[in-house]
Amino acid sequence: MIISKRVSQISPSPTLAITAKANQMKEQGIKVIGFGAGEPDFDTPNHIKDAAKKALDAGLTKYTPTSGIKELKDAISKKFNKDNGLTYSANEILVSCGAKHSLFNAILTLADEGDEVILPSPYWVSYIEMIRMAGAKAVIIKTNQEDQFKIKPDQLIAAITSRTKILILNSPSNPTGMIYDKEELLEISKILIKNNIFCISDEIYEKLIYDNIPHVSIASFNEQIKKCSIVVNGVSKAYAMTGWRIGYAAGPKEIIGAMSNLQDHSTSNPTSIAQAAAVEALGGLQEDLKTMVAEFKKRREVMVKKVNTIQGLSTLTPQGAFYCFINIKHLLEKSFDGKKIETSMNFADLLLEKAQVAVVPGSVFGDDHYMRLSYATSMSNITEGLQRIEEFVKKLS
Ligand SMILES: Cc1ncc(COP(=O)(O)O)c(C=O)c1O
Repeated sequence: MIISKRVSQISPSPTLAITAKANQMKEQGIKVIGFGAGEPDFDTPNHIKDAAKKALDAGLTKYTPTSGIKELKDAISKKFNKDNGLTYSANEILVSCGAKHSLFNAILTLADEGDEVILPSPYWVSYIEMIRMAGAKAVIIKTNQEDQFKIKPDQLIAAITSRTKILILNSPSNPTGMIYDKEELLEISKILIKNNIFCISDEIYEKLIYDNIPHVSIASFNEQIKKCSIVVNGVSKAYAMTGWRIGYAAGPKEIIGAMSNLQDHSTSNPTSIAQAAAVEALGGLQEDLKTMVAEFKKRREVMVKKVNTIQGLSTLTPQGAFYCFINIKHLLEKSFDGKKIETSMNFADLLLEKAQVAVVPGSVFGDDHYMRLSYATSMSNITEGLQRIEEFVKKLS
């Protein structure tokens, strides 16, 4: 075997096949409506681009400190203070190449071979691969629609063993859009403290929240929970900067220092000019973010309303992020033109082939009774795509 055991265990993205097929159809001139987007369909605001141009012209094209430039760490520290009531100094912050990189650093730094990492499902697909890469074991807690896809304290307690090292929390969640409230997080924090378990809190969708629901960071309750939390965030989603690759993590300085050592010998610093742009994103005007959230809210309303009128489909109203996690359970076991649908992947395949609509099957997120639709696409795509889905569903028998 040429490929290492570690890497050969990584699963290829199950959505790639659907994306490749959708692209192939587009190349043939077929109008495919894509609901797969994991990024805002907005451009990075001009004032942020200008900051990058300025940095480029000023010759900021060299290596920076691995953990990030001082100006960006200051901006991150201010953001934590203002938004989350958290105080972090420069040696408690690590800037990385996207929140994904921050999460990778955190999991690899905390989890040893054989350790257990508790992961609520549905989950964002990369967590499970990162846990595997660390040689650790993912312990899945299955949540359901009735509980708003959130774990309950007794489920958490039941999942804990002597090998449990980490709980991964993601609020607002990809794929469900659900948000843990203060009381729920407080309960979880008490269990974590009592059992000496770390929390990796992925808060990348913090700024994409609707209806004034507050975002609470689990690390913010007291010093005890802060000491066992790594908070991950970034500029990708809030500022439409997915391509710039800037994410960050904050936590106890020993852990952040160790994560920084890991980064030192892999990527070193994130791109210098992208860091300058991120300073402007966090510290500059927030008007474009407000416009984007207002637009996502309108699209969310249209999507939720329409989905819940289609017989056989149902969705909760997502509180944050830009995804609807849609229940298709009643449609599995039905057939299209005599072809039986058994899995969410079958459903997504047929939907693409017969209705030219691309969606992400729930199996990718650990729940086969669902599909994920992103509303980071135009209103006209949403209207037409859902119309096509409705017609497709009507043809199932
Ligand atoms: C839950 C979640 N965490 C982290 C990330 C990664 O963000 P970034 O683009 O900053 O690496 C994503 C991106 O899709 C995500 O959905």
